Amino acid sequence: MFNSALVNRFHQLETPFYYYDLQSLKATLKACADASFKYHFQVHYAMKANFNPRVLDTIQSFGFGADCVSGNEVLAAVNHGFKREKIVFAGVGKSDKEINLALDQNIFCFNVESVQELQVINDLAAAKNKTASIAIRINPNVDAHTHHFITTGLEENKFGINTWELPAVAEKLRQCKNLKFLGIHFHVGSQINDLSVFQNLCLKVNEMQLWFQEEGFEVKVLNVGGGLGVDYFLPDKNSIVDFESYFKVFKDFLHVNPNQEVHFELGRALVAQCASLISRVLYVKNGIKKNFLILDAGMTELIRPMLYQAYHQIENLSWEQGAENEEAISNQQSGSSNQLSGSSNSHLATQTPHLITSYDVVGPICESTDCFRTDVELPESKRGDLIAIRTAGAYGEVMASGYNLRDRVQSVYSEE
Ligand code: LLP
Repeated sequence: MFNSALVNRFHQLETPFYYYDLQSLKATLKACADASFKYHFQVHYAMKANFNPRVLDTIQSFGFGADCVSGNEVLAAVNHGFKREKIVFAGVGKSDKEINLALDQNIFCFNVESVQELQVINDLAAAKNKTASIAIRINPNVDAHTHHFITTGLEENKFGINTWELPAVAEKLRQCKNLKFLGIHFHVGSQINDLSVFQNLCLKVNEMQLWFQEEGFEVKVLNVGGGLGVDYFLPDKNSIVDFESYFKVFKDFLHVNPNQEVHFELGRALVAQCASLISRVLYVKNGIKKNFLILDAGMTELIRPMLYQAYHQIENLSWEQGAENEEAISNQQSGSSNQLSGSSNSHLATQTPHLITSYDVVGPICESTDCFRTDVELPESKRGDLIAIRTAGAYGEVMASGYNLRDRVQSVYSEE
C-alpha cells in the first residue's frame, strides 16, 4: 500500500493524519456493488462508519443508499447526493427534532426501535399531514459471536423491539393512521467473520416475516443490517472482503418473494481497509520491563484499540522505505523532509539487518489506556520515524475526540 514515493510525501506532512486510498475504496465498492447486484440486493452504506466528505462522495457515486443514525447524518446524506428514496434512519433515541428533519427530507424509511417511538413518529407526521414509512427493528436474540461491546442483537442489548412485544407493535400499527408499514429490520452486531451468524439471522427473519404476514401485514422490505467483518491481521492480502460468499448466504437462506426488496447496511466492510492513521515517533523510552514507542497520535485519533481491545497492524514506514528503495533514501537525505528536531533519517540508508525490538506503542494522551498495542515487534525505531496504523477507515476518524484539547485530526488523500 505504501510505496517510497508515498512515504516521501508523508515525510513532508504534519502528522498525525488519516491517509485515504481512494483507489482501494473504489475497488472495494465495485466488488460489493457487483456481488449485491447479482441478487438484486440493495446496500445502504452505514454512514456512522465514516462520514469523511470524500469518502461519502465516492460511495454515493457508486449508487449506494445511506443508513443514518442521526438527523445530521440524514442531512449529510442528502447534501452528498444520496437519493432520498435510498435513505433510512435507525437509532434507539431519535429526538423530535431529528424525526421532523427526516420527515421534511422525505426519506425512504424510519427503522423504529420501540412501541413508544411508533406513536411519536405517527404524531409528528400527523402534525405535518404526512405519512411516515417505517420498518420495525426486531431484536432477534441472535448471538453475533463478536466483541460484547459491538453485539446488538441479544435480549440484553438496548436495540430493537423484543419478539414478545410484537403483538403490541401490530396493535399500534393498526391504530396509527400516519404510518405506513414497509417491513422488518435487523442488525445483530459488527465485525462478524463467522457467516453462520448470518445464516441464523436469515432463519429468524423468515420466522418474523411469516408472523407479520399472518397478522395481515404486507412485508415489502427485509432489511438485514450490516456487520460483515474485515481482516485486521492481513490488510494487504485480504483488502477486499469476500462479498460474494456473504451475499450468497442470504440468497440461499432468506425466503424472498418477487415483490420484496432485500436491504443491507454495510459500514466497516466498505471502508475499513481504505485508510491508515499515519503518525510519527515522538520519543523512544527504554524501560526496564518495557520499551515504549511514544507516537504523536493517540486514543483521540483512533480509540478502537482502547475501547474494544481491537487489533490494528502497526508498521514502521521509514524502515520499510529504507529497505525498499535507496533512491528514496537519498531524496530524504537531501533535506526536503518535515522532520522533528533531533530526529534523523540516517537509518534509512542502513540496508543491513536490523534489530527487532518489542515495544508498547502508546499515544501522548494523559490516560494509561492510551496504548495502541503492547509488545509489538518492530525494527528498532527512532524519533521521527513514520508509523502506520492500518485498517483504520471504519470507526476511526469519525470517533476522534478533542480530549486534552487536541487538534482535529487531518485527512490526506491518494492522488486520483
Ligand atoms: N446498521 C446498524 C443499525 C448499526 O448499528 C450498524 C453499526 C451498522 C448497520 C453497520 O455495521 P458494520 O457493517 O459497520 O459492522 N465502533 C465500533 C462499531 C460499532 C457499530 C455500530 N453499529 C467499532 O469500532 O468496532
